[in-house]
Amino acid sequence: MNSKLIAPSVLAADFANLQRDIEMVNNSDADWFHIDVMDGVFVPNISFGMPVLQAINKHAKKTLDVHLMIVNPDKYIATFADLGSDILTVHFEACTHLHRTLQAIKSHGMQAGVALNPHTSVSVLEDVITDIDVVCIMSVNPGFGGQSFIENTYKKIKQLKDLIIRNNALTKIEIDGGVNDKNAKQLIDAGADVLVAGSYVFKSSSPLNTIKTLKNLANS
Ligand code: DX5
Ligand code: ZN
Repeated sequence: MNSKLIAPSVLAADFANLQRDIEMVNNSDADWFHIDVMDGVFVPNISFGMPVLQAINKHAKKTLDVHLMIVNPDKYIATFADLGSDILTVHFEACTHLHRTLQAIKSHGMQAGVALNPHTSVSVLEDVITDIDVVCIMSVNPGFGGQSFIENTYKKIKQLKDLIIRNNALTKIEIDGGVNDKNAKQLIDAGADVLVAGSYVFKSSSPLNTIKTLKNLANS
């Protein structure tokens, strides 16, 4: 069985000590850096943009998983490739021509991700699943860290897993929002491959140990 991945969300890091927090993740059992870019239009919050991603990339030694919560993501695909993104995830709800967007992401050498808001059915990906490297199921409404996990997510994971298997796709299932030690194992058992965790990791007394705990739970 493939090992299950942990992606700490930098949104919950201490921005005044960003290098320290990036190095903590470098030295941890985490697999990816999850990086939330918000524009204040697609979601009701603004996080950070290009200069901060550039600073993260200077120190990060693991896969950069960039989650765009922005309108018109097509406009910035080349820029995010130049900034070192390994995976670029766009929101289904922000893309009128999703198939074209996915091809553009791949043509810039990145893996292509699609995020689904809690109200969006996984069935909308039926005709494009084989083009997607990662589906990010939002288990909170995007825009903020520290929200509570939406229980309907388990059902969506099972439906998505079924869709992936039926289409012989290699797509990974990523869960984003409200992940902690109480739901990690159940999410993996339902079919998740990647767990994003922000506040649960960075607000804990030992982020290193918390990442280890999640990694062990996910692979137990
Ligand atoms: C929410 C972001 C998440 C967020 C998760 O819009 O996409 O990545 O940082 O944070 P927690 O783990 O605190 O729910
Ligand atoms: Zn995210």
